Amino acid sequence: MLKPCFAMSESEALAVLSRTGVFRIAGMTEDGPLLRTVDGVVHDGMLCFHGADRGTKLELVGREVMVAGEEVVAHLPSWFFDERRACPATTYYRSVYAWGTIERVADRVTKAAVLQALMEHHQPEGRHQPITADDPLYANAIDGLFVGCIRPRRIEGKAKLGQHKGAATIARALDGLWQRGAPGDLAAIRAVREAHPGRPTPTWMLGPVGVTFEVAPDGREVEAAVALLEGQYWNEGVEPRRIRSAHLASPAWIVARDPAGTVVATARAVGDDAKIAIVYDVVVDPALRGRGLGRAMVGLLLQHPRVRGARRVLLRTRDAQGFYTRLGFSPYVSSNELLGRTTS
Ligand SMILES: CC(C)(COP(=O)(O)OP(=O)(O)OC[C@H]1O[C@@H](n2cnc3c(N)ncnc32)[C@H](O)[C@@H]1OP(=O)(O)O)[C@@H](O)C(=O)NCCC(=O)NCCS
Repeated sequence: MLKPCFAMSESEALAVLSRTGVFRIAGMTEDGPLLRTVDGVVHDGMLCFHGADRGTKLELVGREVMVAGEEVVAHLPSWFFDERRACPATTYYRSVYAWGTIERVADRVTKAAVLQALMEHHQPEGRHQPITADDPLYANAIDGLFVGCIRPRRIEGKAKLGQHKGAATIARALDGLWQRGAPGDLAAIRAVREAHPGRPTPTWMLGPVGVTFEVAPDGREVEAAVALLEGQYWNEGVEPRRIRSAHLASPAWIVARDPAGTVVATARAVGDDAKIAIVYDVVVDPALRGRGLGRAMVGLLLQHPRVRGARRVLLRTRDAQGFYTRLGFSPYVSSNELLGRTTS
């Protein structure tokens, strides 16, 4: 029996399957149990997949199956929690199981819609003619492919993110993830914190004027960051879409949120984890300047896992030399040694 603290709502569970884009489907056939992994998509509340109209998975059509999908949030090593004992090693994850019957989709319009949904998931950049039932370009594919769907009659999701653990254990997990800083660890910090809204925020995530730093911002914060940065002198002539993409592609990006959740400051860096990191796009909401927020934010950025290992951290500034001097920066090279090339 799943502990209520781990349970996901049906829509959260469907969202996990939707994100993974890969379903494992298991069922019983005449020859025994069969397990298949397929590219899948959640379409109209149904779990849908496609394949050649032959092969063993067709033996599952019309049968009761289980579908599974999961996301590993982070593997937490024992040493986050205990110097000697191996026992605390654990994995935080989201897993989903659904039960239902595989049905063959015969209707060409639904088939086309499922195939288009698969394309949108696995090829979000588009760059193909949309799949529609009446397009001659796709007539053969729609007729020739098998499209299966499962309308779940039961769906169960488990998010194991330490909900059953005490505040001290969660604090150690968050500190450990920040210190280790492996790919995915900062997103895991966010996921664990979102699963524990009542737990104290680690002190290293707190800044002046009541702000909290988010070390794994994503599409949810990007528009607010762009709004703060548009019109700053170094972004003159830079289209907002470029500022947006630069942030989403930056290995190090942090924002500060005020107590109401509004993004009030942002800073990012790119680098190679060893020789060089370059700090870009540092800005604090004008209403909150001069209260230590910029210093705290850049200080945290310098401790970011993708920045702290760099031998040199570089940046350019027209008029904030005094601000950066206080953070340990000094003039680096004369301007004719630093070359650049700009594409519109
Ligand atoms: C520069 C900026 C990020 C500083 O943020 P902030 O929150 O106002 O800075 P802080 O309050 O943390 O200031 C820390 C120290 O730097 C000093 N400082 C702040 N801005 C400065 C500036 N532009 N020039 C020189 N010193 C500055 C402060 O006086 C303070 O000094 P103190 O320790 O002696 O009191 C902010 O003013 C800003 O967003 N400016 C517009 C965008 C910009 O210029 N970004 C930097 C581009 S590289």
